[in-house]
Amino acid sequence: MTGTPRIRVLFNEETIAKRNEELAQDIARSNPENLLVVAVLKGSFMFAADLLRALHRVGLEPQVEFVHLSSYLDGTVSTGNVTILRDVESDVRGRDILLVDDILESGRTVTFAKDLLMARGAKRVLTTVLLEKPGKRAVSIEADFVGFTCPDLFVVGYGMDVAHSYRQLPFVGVVDHANQDPDLFDKA
Ligand code: IMP
Ligand code: MG
Repeated sequence: MTGTPRIRVLFNEETIAKRNEELAQDIARSNPENLLVVAVLKGSFMFAADLLRALHRVGLEPQVEFVHLSSYLDGTVSTGNVTILRDVESDVRGRDILLVDDILESGRTVTFAKDLLMARGAKRVLTTVLLEKPGKRAVSIEADFVGFTCPDLFVVGYGMDVAHSYRQLPFVGVVDHANQDPDLFDKA
């Protein structure tokens, strides 16, 4: 594709694919039982789809659910409010959950989702994120399984967007103009 010259590749397809296989092996080593994968929409859809196939290859048989969360911005600053736009349908009581998100930044999204699932009686909520931005946490949380440490840049692709664009890219990259204008980004 030639229409995206302004995007600098940070993590290419091959690197991501290899890391997904390693993550699946690490997840399998945690011996999940009656596993339910809960992918946080929208940003994690591509990561979740690839990770699920990698989980299959390491012999796991997870069920799959989706929750659509949104964290709203007040100007360029997160208000800290996370809302549920679409909830999971399954009963999570007594189950091992693997929560899948695209980026762990302030930590509010993953914390909100984890607390919600635990409050509903999940036995264990493991978390995996494709990317983790160090030093950006507003709440104290780390993911159990991290794909890559990400520099403090606004990234797109592999499911992640800026103003609803670029989710289709098969790699993670940086749109330089977005880093100069953080108002452009959409946290849903
Ligand atoms: P937090 O950890 O609650 O601050 O929010 C993480 C969410 O913000 C992620 O699930 C993404 O949807 C979004 N987000 C944070 N940084 C970026 C980025 O660089 N690109 C695209 N989305 C981002
Ligand atoms: Mg998100």
